[in-house]
Amino acid sequence: MEDQLKQEIASRRTFAIISHPDAGKTTMTEKLLFFGGAIRDAGTVKGKKSGKFATSDWMEIEKQRGISVTSSVLQFDFDGKRVNILDTPGHEDFSEDTYRTLMAVDSAVMMIDSAKGIEPQTIKLFKVCRMRGIPIFTFINKLDRQGREPLELMEELEEVLGIESYAMNWPIGMGKEFMGIYDRHNRRVELARTEGDGRYLEVGKDGDLAQSHSIQETSYYQQALEDVMLLDEAGNDFDEERVRRGELTPVFFGSALTNFGVQTFLETYLQFAPAPQPRNTADGGSVNPYDDEFTGFIFKIQANMNPAHRDRIAFVRIVSGEFDRGMQVTVPRIPKTFKVSQSTQFLADDRETVNMAVAGDIIGLYDTGNYQIGDTITGGKANFAFEPLPQFTPELFVKVSPKNVMKSKHFHKGILQLVQEGAIQYYKTLHTEEVILGAVGQLQFEVFEHRMKNEYNSEVVIQHIGQKVARWIENEGDVKESMTGPRAMLVKDRYENLVFLFENDFALRWFQDKHPDIRLYSLL
Ligand code: G4P
Repeated sequence: MEDQLKQEIASRRTFAIISHPDAGKTTMTEKLLFFGGAIRDAGTVKGKKSGKFATSDWMEIEKQRGISVTSSVLQFDFDGKRVNILDTPGHEDFSEDTYRTLMAVDSAVMMIDSAKGIEPQTIKLFKVCRMRGIPIFTFINKLDRQGREPLELMEELEEVLGIESYAMNWPIGMGKEFMGIYDRHNRRVELARTEGDGRYLEVGKDGDLAQSHSIQETSYYQQALEDVMLLDEAGNDFDEERVRRGELTPVFFGSALTNFGVQTFLETYLQFAPAPQPRNTADGGSVNPYDDEFTGFIFKIQANMNPAHRDRIAFVRIVSGEFDRGMQVTVPRIPKTFKVSQSTQFLADDRETVNMAVAGDIIGLYDTGNYQIGDTITGGKANFAFEPLPQFTPELFVKVSPKNVMKSKHFHKGILQLVQEGAIQYYKTLHTEEVILGAVGQLQFEVFEHRMKNEYNSEVVIQHIGQKVARWIENEGDVKESMTGPRAMLVKDRYENLVFLFENDFALRWFQDKHPDIRLYSLL
């Protein structure tokens, strides 16, 4: 591989921001893009509230709800690095896509609201990152508001998530009294309010300021110094290797809204975040990003971006080599070779045609129904597959049937394709073979209903059966039908495996107490 291409690949930093809704992910993304020069004002990018999507020709649902149904990719250059941020939708638009997006990144940034601490969606997304062993960087946000004590937040991080942490910086006061941060990593104090004395104050060897400043006299500064001393003595050491292995999360404090601490975060993050990483193949090998041949995998398919053309976009994470527009790509699963003449990359919300992309980048390929989620793509003849994408344990379930029984053929065809594509999970009841669909987020059902009608001409009746705790069974042979009941429903998944759908955690525990010999497990 040529040196120039190697350098290109080594400059890529591909990550997602994981957070509970309202922690400040959109605000942070805007500020990051602002630093990257991708937008002129640190204004709205996603147009969540400005209604920018009203002019987009994306799915009807997106228009109605003013949100992006599937994750998009934002790209900018900073400090000699090319940064790819993959959006992970929250709120009701949370779906399996959100989880799968985390399969395509090399690191994650976890945003936490300093007043709320660790919230449920953060835990779910964190678990998926942890499973992959990717580095996680934490940004504790909204320091311009009164929040919880920083030491308490650090403790919660370690206890609830079970990850060790290292505070890269420490807040000096908060809310109205937020004076800045004590930057342990860069050995300086960054002032929130600057009045002609510069933004940074150097910290000397003893931890005191190199030059005198009025901030030193404040109780907030003294408190910060005390806390930092405590962390120096009793806290974890900074260990780059452990950060890379995802065992230690560097923690930053700041305020995305007032743009405080964001640049320092970005600079430090880029210093330690990994360049594109190798990926495992299904046969136990691995593919290195610097391998000459272009390879990648599809982690998401976005349908109907233009309803007039019924087109779909398959999002590919490039694993190795270089992608050029016009190249031939092979999908070994089918196996079929296509000439790629149209590909897109996302910069803010403008679709741009991409001519060249390298390992670490995400490209969107126009799809007329050939690709599936999880597909491996190569530029050569190699016949191999990347490790399959994991299946996630759904939490929401519905029963679904065709409105018009005369059209059940369309109904079954539509379901089969949408299930294969990974849009939704398929289950059926044991004897009556009623169709049950599972999802991790409500929006998946809405998208399903919409697509069935528009793409497969099949109107469906959806009956909500609510939240369930799904468990697969190691020793299926020992399961008896007498073990089932209204609180423990037994169904089959698309691979004919038996699955218990428990009413809630209590029903699950009750079942396990009663039948300790049945070995249950969950997917991710
Ligand atoms: P999300 O994408 O994670 O859902 O969060 P988003 O950035 O939309 O932020 C949620 C709310 O929190 C917004 O307020 C936003 O302005 C606010 N916020 C984000 N970062 C900070 C921060 O550092 N400090 C403070 N004080 N607030 C912050 P909103 O009232 O819901 O919306 P808006 O009308 O202000 O846009």
